[in-house]
Amino acid sequence: MAQTHAPRGHEKIETSNFLMIVLILLTIAVGGIVEIVPLFFQRSTSQPVEGLKPYTALQLAGRDIYQREGCYNCHSQMIRPFRAETLRYGHYSMAGEFVYDYPFQWGSKRTGPDLHRVGGKYSDEWHRIHLINPRDLVPESNMPAYPWLETATVDAEGMAPRMKALRTLGVPYTDAEIAKAADDVKGKTELEAMIAYLQVLGTAVK
Ligand code: HEC
Repeated sequence: MAQTHAPRGHEKIETSNFLMIVLILLTIAVGGIVEIVPLFFQRSTSQPVEGLKPYTALQLAGRDIYQREGCYNCHSQMIRPFRAETLRYGHYSMAGEFVYDYPFQWGSKRTGPDLHRVGGKYSDEWHRIHLINPRDLVPESNMPAYPWLETATVDAEGMAPRMKALRTLGVPYTDAEIAKAADDVKGKTELEAMIAYLQVLGTAVK
């Protein structure tokens, strides 16, 4: 049937692929911005929770090794506010606990358990044995063994530059902390650094 009037309003949009796509994108963008932007200005999402401390040089070294070894591929650090999770892992994760995490290690896959509140759950000795060979403690474990962590030493000289870089992102390291970073970690093994990191995870919230 021949069109008897010029396309107007809805019809104009619905019959133009280009207009339709542009307007859909615009609508989604506005919706997204309205949801996300306020979070940048809320105290509860942008300020550290009370008691949160920046990682010490040794803990930070451990965190770097955690990333290097890809632990996040199997472990999340994000306890969701569901009963099944809080019963198993403890208090759900809060945004203010991650403000010194660059980048955060929330992860998205749980081959192993969530690690956000693993700090203090086991002894240092438990972690030492577990990281060298998980099956010595958990016979059915399919977590890889990381025996080299016991012999490799931490890159002591590399810590000050890393802490300075984090300071530019807003982590409140003092000059004194940065100055003694190398001495703090000198001679420490990567295993000690990893355990120091694991033991502080999630401990700012009781
Ligand atoms: C291939 C997947 C995988 C990778 C990679 C992996 N893990 Fe695991 N992890 C597991 C599994 C499965 C368990 C549960 C069995 C066990 O305790 O060994 C586990 C358990 C743990 C636990 C005990 C958690 C608890 O609450 O009982 C810790 C701590 C841990 N892993 C740390 C690490 C660290 C640190 C790394 C990186 C160096 C790592 N994992 C890499 C799979 C993995």
